[in-house]
Amino acid sequence: MRILTTAALALALSTPVLADPPAKPARLGLCAACHGEAGMARIPGAPNLAGQKLDYLREALRQYRDGRRDIPVMRAATGPLTDAELDQLAEWYSAQTPSRAAP
Ligand code: HEC
Repeated sequence: MRILTTAALALALSTPVLADPPAKPARLGLCAACHGEAGMARIPGAPNLAGQKLDYLREALRQYRDGRRDIPVMRAATGPLTDAELDQLAEWYSAQTPSRAAP
């Protein structure tokens, strides 16, 4: 019994602890038409976002919303969003793994 317990414990401890992936943001639908749900762009001229640095995405989204980056489509998409919603989207896209762009 004792050996079994020790083995079970060792197995449990050796299982890698994976960080929880972020939950799908409620507002992802606002972005997916252009950037894709997984951050690979779906239209010409939109950048891929998958795997981009989290702090860069957070800052970029604030810049669009505040007009420091004056791009009408991005101002329209980010305008109604709260800081928390922008952060969820930044975390989501940052956590995605880049893949081949959709044709
Ligand atoms: C109508 C298409 C469209 C929609 C919808 C849209 N985007 Fe964009 N997005 C663009 C384009 C085009 C750019 C490039 C703008 C530029 O030149 O700065 C961009 C740029 C960005 C960037 C900056 C990337 C970089 O490398 O600097 C981020 C981050 C981003 N979008 C996130 C989002 C998020 C999050 C949403 C949803 C709230 C969203 N976008 C909705 C078209 C769109």
